Formats: sequence, C-alpha cells, structure tokens
Amino acid sequence: MADTTIKLLDDGPYLVSGSVEVQDAEGKRFATGDQIALCRCGHSANKPFCDGAHKANAFKDATRA
Ligand code: FES
Repeated sequence: MADTTIKLLDDGPYLVSGSVEVQDAEGKRFATGDQIALCRCGHSANKPFCDGAHKANAFKDATRA
C-alpha cells in the first residue's frame, strides 16, 4: 500500500492522506497536516483546498476506478 493516498470523495474534494507537500507555482509551501482536502469543483475561495463550496454549487461526480 502507498504511503500517500488520494481518495475521490463522491460529489466532493480529493482527500489526500499521508506525507505530502503542496506548493504554489513559485515553489512556496502551503501549511498542511497529515490529511488535506483539495478542491476539484473549482468553486473554493481557499484554493487549492476545499472550503465546502462544492455543496452550494451542487458539484456532482462519483468516478469509480
Ligand atoms: S471540492 Fe469542495 S469546494 Fe471544491
């Protein structure tokens, strides 16, 4: 099993668990913990992180592997 996993939550963000570093385009690091939620709906006011806006915007996706 991988040290880091990315789980696609139905109708929600990418839930990233494990050791990971998130950087902006200039290489500056965002403060993160052991688990983060990355926006995949495009509506977050706190990109790249999910702020729950996917619910108000009725984002729908339930991709299966
Ligand atoms: S996935 Fe939650 S705000 Fe975009």
